[in-house]
Amino acid sequence: MKKFYVTTPIYYVNDVPHLGHAYCSVACDVLARFKRLDGYDVMFLSGTDEHGQKIAKAAAKAGIEPQALTDKVSQNFRDVLKALNVSNDDFIRTTEERHIKACRVLWDELLKRNELYLGKYAGWYAVRDEAYYGEDELKDGPNGKKIAPSGAECEWVEEPSYFFRLSAWGDKLLKFYEENPDFILPHSRRNEVISFVKSGMHDLSVSRTAISWGVPVPNEDKHVMYVWLDALTNYLTAVGYPDTQAESYKKYWPADMHVVGKDILRFHAIYWPAFLLAAGLEPPKHIFAHGWWTCEGEKMSKSLGNVIDPYGLIEKYGLDQTRYFVLREVPFGNDSDFSHAAMVRRINSDLANGIGNLAQRTLSQIAKNCGGAVPKHGEFTDADKGLLELAQGTLVLLQQEFEVLAFHKALDLIWALIAHADRYIDEQAPWALKKTDAARMETVLYVLAETLRHIGCFLLPFVPEKAGMLLDQLAVAADRRDFAHLTDACALETGTPLPAPQGLFPRYVDEEA
Ligand code: MSP
Repeated sequence: MKKFYVTTPIYYVNDVPHLGHAYCSVACDVLARFKRLDGYDVMFLSGTDEHGQKIAKAAAKAGIEPQALTDKVSQNFRDVLKALNVSNDDFIRTTEERHIKACRVLWDELLKRNELYLGKYAGWYAVRDEAYYGEDELKDGPNGKKIAPSGAECEWVEEPSYFFRLSAWGDKLLKFYEENPDFILPHSRRNEVISFVKSGMHDLSVSRTAISWGVPVPNEDKHVMYVWLDALTNYLTAVGYPDTQAESYKKYWPADMHVVGKDILRFHAIYWPAFLLAAGLEPPKHIFAHGWWTCEGEKMSKSLGNVIDPYGLIEKYGLDQTRYFVLREVPFGNDSDFSHAAMVRRINSDLANGIGNLAQRTLSQIAKNCGGAVPKHGEFTDADKGLLELAQGTLVLLQQEFEVLAFHKALDLIWALIAHADRYIDEQAPWALKKTDAARMETVLYVLAETLRHIGCFLLPFVPEKAGMLLDQLAVAADRRDFAHLTDACALETGTPLPAPQGLFPRYVDEEA
């Protein structure tokens, strides 16, 4: 069986889960569900990033122990995944024993291979990003502060530290990017990584002595691991590392797709493959960097009070409406601005008037005029064949778009099929055939029901509940909803009783407007 290992970033436990976090989790969920339907054995991982200075500071500010903070906030992230109907197979916490063990074994491996050495770090560090910055990257801020390109404030740090020989990996990384042109996706992001590597790499500080909230370095009491080395290792831990003979490790590693925000691409596309290659492990196949959401034109931030709460969206607009909107509104990879007006537009035009209306028109005519059962089809005309062939041909196009996580284009393809079906129903006018040619009316409604079966299966990854409802209304059994069951263009069996049709997507009427 083909396998697919997909991961979200692990979320810092100093924040409340917001739209930005939900976005990535939903996107990975859509991908994981698509691959499962497409016959892959999928491993889908999410989790929380719980060590480091930022978390230690947040705990101190809250007046509690870091472990107590992480227990509480990690659960919030777990809960929001559930609320979003995210189907992750595992949820990892970096404070778990299995992970601490994996980090320490990886460390020993790097040490054994002479990839680490003890030195002293003297330079700039941004706690918000948990990142080291070179002097040349910084700008002067107010009150003599130094500001990183991300906008984070930097502090001067001097401490004994272990270093990873990153400077020796520049050329090998460049060769790796050249040999794997699809490693960094979308392709538009590739150059920024390559030019950063070309500009010259410094050795990377990978342990800290000024803080103690982290994975202890083996045989070095005073050092804890740099939080990014710890965090990235989560992708290995979850499939069984350090047991490289474990079934799950042999099956799933290397990861097929790490989905991350553009702000953390450097860690994933530079440090991560360098650590892995240095430890003699295979690097992941692809890193996809998505864009950022702003809210009504402003950066979302706790202090501005404009952080978008996923629970609020689900409550106001519905779960599947929310999932659909975030993936339809912009190409995955681009930045986007959230606005309630855009959300309402999408719900009403694409969902209520688009798929909702097509399903309603077809299913209510079947209920009324075909005795509430799958109609009988006669010989197919060119128009019938045209629609069925489009439905059949859509799968391979969707598979291509999913290879590069072009969710908006995948949805475009499904909506092109819906538009074709809308034209077909208008042209064939089954309601008029009722009196003149009942047999032809049944054929037309059969073709539409089959098209809806295809659409239902294609929509399952995006809107699992609503697509499930649509397939229920077509009496498609739960074990016949995967893409293998689309090889047959006419799988619906004439005479199968259908439940009474129910609306899928109501129009959104803004009561406050
Ligand atoms: N803990 C690290 C990731 C370690 S992965 C080995 C981290 N955590 S985070 O909680 O700060 O961010 C998690 C993800 O949320 C990142 O991919 C980040 O890009 C994403 N987002 C945070 N705010 C966002 C928006 N406003 N919009 C879209 N995504 C955003 O980084």
